[in-house]
Amino acid sequence: MSPVTIQHDCAREGAIALTPIACKVLSVSQETADVKAFRIQALDGTKPFECRPGQTAMLSVIPYGECMFCVSAQGQDYLEFTVKEVGYVTEKLHALSPGDTVGLRGPYGNWFPTEELKGKDVLFVGGGIGLAPLRSLLTYLLDHREDYGRIDLVYSGSTPDDLIFLDDITNVWPQLPDVHCHVSIYKPCEGWEGEVCYTAPFLEQLKLSQDNRVVVLCGGPSLFRTCREMLVGLGFAEEDIITTLEMKMKCGIGKCGRCNIGSLYICLDGPVFTLAELNKIPGSLH
Ligand code: FES
Repeated sequence: MSPVTIQHDCAREGAIALTPIACKVLSVSQETADVKAFRIQALDGTKPFECRPGQTAMLSVIPYGECMFCVSAQGQDYLEFTVKEVGYVTEKLHALSPGDTVGLRGPYGNWFPTEELKGKDVLFVGGGIGLAPLRSLLTYLLDHREDYGRIDLVYSGSTPDDLIFLDDITNVWPQLPDVHCHVSIYKPCEGWEGEVCYTAPFLEQLKLSQDNRVVVLCGGPSLFRTCREMLVGLGFAEEDIITTLEMKMKCGIGKCGRCNIGSLYICLDGPVFTLAELNKIPGSLH
């Protein structure tokens, strides 16, 4: 299998969006106790801008502040963001209702290599809120199903209450041809009849072959470290393991310096990289 190549110069080449577009909250859905999904639309009822899977945008809650989020889904006339309440701006965001006004600027960064994945099997590995950036690619592959091979999702959370997009995972995606969802929790829980297992040993247990398969991995530091070590141990090439560092993006436009690792700026050169690329950048995997 030829190694995956990711485009890194896209954000450095084009014009960078600096001005927020006035938008409205189209809908809000409660995913877990501290995670909500927001559908955002321009005030004239259109999609604010076109976005590729893996790209991010800056969502502003007027007048409290702004935060960078990945686009977790999109439709013809909306962009969707899945947001965990972790601080001041996200708390204000969680208080919004349909019809409220927000600002939105973007898109930022590079994207998952949808062309390069054609004809390949794709294994998604995520934990907790880490499924949000993966979902934009997963739904893209489902929308272009004939271009891609088997799709597996290995997804975990501490408890069932930490799992987002549960309806998709349990009711929608497993019904689709050659889509396989493998879900586990870490802590035994009354009423849970599925796997109780950390993500890395769960991957080992599933014994998915590395032949013609690319992995897309996103999760917290512990999941990211244990799973990438497990995947390499199982024989996956580092060139075939893709991740996104979108959580490190702050201003998104190369100005604040908070995302740089060595000579790279995650916002301008990423956030999507292969593990092989990150291994060549000292400090990128910490
Ligand atoms: S996010 Fe500010 S410089 Fe990259």
